[in-house]
Formats: sequence, structure tokens, C-alpha cells
Amino acid sequence: MATPEPLLSVRELSVTFPTPRGPVRAVDSLSFDVHRGRTLGIVGESGSGKSVTSMAVLGLHTGAEVTGSITLDGQELVGLPERALNRVRGRRIAMIFQDPLSSLHPYYTVGEQIAEHHRVHFDSRRAQAHRRAVEMLAEVGIPEPARRAGEYPHQFSGGMRQRAMIAMALACEPELLIADEPTTALDVTVQAQILELLARLQQERGLAVVMITHDLGVVARVAHEVLVMYGGRAAEQAPVDDLFATPAHPYTRGLLDSLPRLDDDDDAPLRAIPGSPPSLLDPTPGCAFAPRCPRAASASAEVRLRCSNERPLLGGPSGHPVACHLPAYEGVTS
Ligand SMILES: Nc1ncnc2c1ncn2[C@@H]1O[C@H](COP(=O)(O)OP(=O)(O)OP(=O)(O)O)[C@@H](O)[C@H]1O
Ligand code: SF4
Ligand SMILES: [Mg+2]
Repeated sequence: MATPEPLLSVRELSVTFPTPRGPVRAVDSLSFDVHRGRTLGIVGESGSGKSVTSMAVLGLHTGAEVTGSITLDGQELVGLPERALNRVRGRRIAMIFQDPLSSLHPYYTVGEQIAEHHRVHFDSRRAQAHRRAVEMLAEVGIPEPARRAGEYPHQFSGGMRQRAMIAMALACEPELLIADEPTTALDVTVQAQILELLARLQQERGLAVVMITHDLGVVARVAHEVLVMYGGRAAEQAPVDDLFATPAHPYTRGLLDSLPRLDDDDDAPLRAIPGSPPSLLDPTPGCAFAPRCPRAASASAEVRLRCSNERPLLGGPSGHPVACHLPAYEGVTS
């Protein structure tokens, strides 16, 4: 059976910000696909380029140089005029952020904001847009949606605000939803509810989802495919089960090792990957992970030299490529 065409296809995407201290390449030669009804988890430490990637998909980097290709159902988005991009943003691609308060306006009721979003994209009448807003609040599980639609964001709890954001994002029936750390600020019970809600809505609507997170636990729960980013580049890409069963990149191994385990002592400190993320202002010619890499540290002098001087390109099996000179597909050799 032929694989269906991806809804979103990103090829060789690079995003470079001009700064007083020199160009910062926050995303470098990134390629990935997202299919309808599937979730791509993008995971990586703070500063690895996750948000810059999602903003590039939405065409929001006005001051940066964006190169490569981003296609939505075959339509090229890079270089699209602002007016045409506006028809895509919010309507065909919607985004939800970590902090709903930064996206919900404090002076308008939640219902007004969802309705306005609908009116802008569908040119709908006020009463119809209001009805849709109440329907959407009901769909995302807000109790007494008609009454709640008349309340302001500060009258909602954190979990309810996040639901309201999801309602707003989905009111226009987008094909692709980008969720940037949508549950980080929430306690675990509410986090689980929001992830379940997204999974249900995805199933009902065949939504394609990009789930951006630094939390591999969230990825394990919702993603079908995973892209692990390090220093603006892809370190490893794989179907979620393969990634967890045979993490081939030492950075992915480090992320997995830092996950709390069931047999952990409650008081044990969380394991973090020692060292800091790479400087994007002054990139090394070799592997960006080399200064922190335990596998390189125990490798031969010849391999260490290669790691410091030669940037590893994505390679290996097409379904599970890794950017490492010493990939370990068995998962236990590092
Ligand atoms: N406008 C900008 N000008 C210069 N550098 C920028 C700009 N926006 C982002 N960057 C840099 O790009 C890098 C990637 O940032 P990004 O926000 O994508 O990280 P992230 O992976 O989303 O991290 P987090 O998990 O903290 O949200 C960072 O080093 C950041 O400082
Ligand atoms: S290329 Fe070398 S330094 Fe980089 S992750 Fe692989 S083994 Fe480590
Ligand atoms: Mg971010």
C-alpha cells in the first residue's frame, strides 16, 4: 500500500537571526513530515529550536532569514505573501501555546474571543459565531459552556484556560495543530486530561498534530513519530516505539535516562545530562553534542577526532535516521 502524502512537509529548513554579535542559526537543515491523523513529537532541551521551527511553519519570523521548503498539502508556505499566509494561519494551521494568558486577551470574554476568531476566518454572523464558540467550549469539556462563554480569562482556572485555547484553535477546523508545550504549566492530572482531549479531538477530526515538548513522558503518551532536536538540528527521528526501544543517539539516550522511573527512590535527584547546550553564535565544526557525549568520551582517539571535526549527517535506516558517527541501534551499547 502506498504511503499517503504528508499534510505538512518540511525540507532543509534553516532559520537565521541577525544579532549584534553575529548570525544565530537557530534551526539548521531540518526536514520532517506530518501526516493526517498522526502526531509528531518534537523534543529537545531548552534552546534546541523547537519553537523557532513552529513559528517558521506559521511564517512568523519577519526579521529572520528563512530558507528551505515548508509545504502544506503541496502548497509552498516559505515566501508566501502575508495576505495569503493569513488565510493559512488560524484557519488551516492553528497553534496553542504553553501560556494561554499570553494568547487570551484579558478585556474580552472567552466566548467573544473564540467567536471573533471564527468570524475573521469564516465571515460568519455574530450570533452564529457565538453559537459556535459555545459549542466548542462544550466540546473541550467546559461545564456550563453558555454561561462560561460570558466570563473573562482570569475567571478560568489554568486547565480551563488551556481548554479555551484549544477551543479557539479548533473553532476554525484546522487541518494541522501545533501545540507548543501545551501542558507544561499544568499539574499532572490536568495535563493528562488535556492530552486525552487532544487525542480524542485528533481521532474525531483526523487532525495532524505537532506536539512540541521537552518532556519525553508526554511524547511517549501522544506521539506516533518523534523528532529529537539538538542545537537546532535533527539528532534522531523515529517512530515512537523504535525511539524508546532502540534510542541510537547518545543525546536521546541521555534524555531517556533522565526520565523518572517507577523504581526510583522518591528522594533521588532527577538525572540531568551534564553540560550545557551548544552556543549557536559560535558553532563547532564537528558534532554539537561532542563536549557532552559519553559515547565519544569512551571512543578511540580517531573517533573522538572525527566527532570534534566532522559534523555528523543524518544517516542510517530511512525510518530511523540518526546524526551520529557512532549510532547504537541496539540501544544498550553506550
Ligand atoms: N528573535 C531571535 N533572535 C535571536 N535569537 C533567537 C530569536 N528567537 C530565538 N532565538 C534563539 O534560537 C534558539 C532556539 O530557540 P527556541 O525558542 O526555538 O528554543 P526552544 O527549543 O523552543 O526552547 P524552550 O524549550 O526553552 O522553549 C535559542 O538559542 C534562542 O535564543
Ligand atoms: S557524533 Fe560523536 S560526539 Fe556526536 S553524538 Fe555521535 S558519538 Fe557523540
Ligand atoms: Mg520553546
